Amino acid sequence: MDLLDPDKIYENLKTKRIGKKILVYDSTSSTNDVAAEYAKNKNNDGLVVFAEEQTVGRGRAGAKWHSKRAESILCSIALTDSKINAELLSLTCAVATAEAIGKPANSEAKIKWPNDILLNGKKVAGILLESKPSDASNTYVIGIGINCHQKKDSFPVELQQNVTSIDLESQTICDRIALAKRLLTSVDHWLQVAEKNSKEVTDRWRELSVQLGHRITLLYNGRKFAGNCIGIEPENGLILQLDSGGVRMFAAVHTTVIM
Ligand code: BTN
Repeated sequence: MDLLDPDKIYENLKTKRIGKKILVYDSTSSTNDVAAEYAKNKNNDGLVVFAEEQTVGRGRAGAKWHSKRAESILCSIALTDSKINAELLSLTCAVATAEAIGKPANSEAKIKWPNDILLNGKKVAGILLESKPSDASNTYVIGIGINCHQKKDSFPVELQQNVTSIDLESQTICDRIALAKRLLTSVDHWLQVAEKNSKEVTDRWRELSVQLGHRITLLYNGRKFAGNCIGIEPENGLILQLDSGGVRMFAAVHTTVIM
């Protein structure tokens, strides 16, 4: 089994900020909770927590995030001094994760706003960005889950049509250590880009988006909206030309995309 080894992840890791400290847990509750504890100390900016298994892994909107032992990359990054806001950070992490997954077997990883990463139209990774409202608002935990070694029947039956793993799409065995290094390098790179020039992030997001130019139905604070996706705004979220007329922006934090 290709267990994650912190020394191998460190080896030749050329990052400025992300992964100066790397912790690997065999099993933990949620890597986001562990990273949030570390994020209480400002010196832990860029600290990364990996786990082979989570007992209470969580996804967006209160969903559970299931992964059997050593099947995935389960990773959380503590940012104690973010220079960018939550919306831009969310776009930046999606771009960074999609690029780290890259093009296994020539099927390029794409972004479904806000934070789903797709391979061949199926979800291969998800991102859960969390902040503690009571903290100074520039503290965040970026939780990233990437499906690596799952087989079709690893997923619950009701999800099997919509989710996948890198191994399933590439017909090979993904090297999780190489992927972990690419992920940290990519997050490090795109955070630097975002701090200098947010347009570069949104331009890359547009190239990788599966939704731009397509019709979307979403729930915003429980209300249903449908329209054509015409853009993304780093400050305010997704822009829809509504079927009912008019243009409206939807912040990721209050929105669930249905279709
Ligand atoms: C989603 O698509 O709903 C987001 C899933 C995020 C899962 C990751 S796995 C590592 C980190 N720890 C968690 O409990 N969740 C995130």
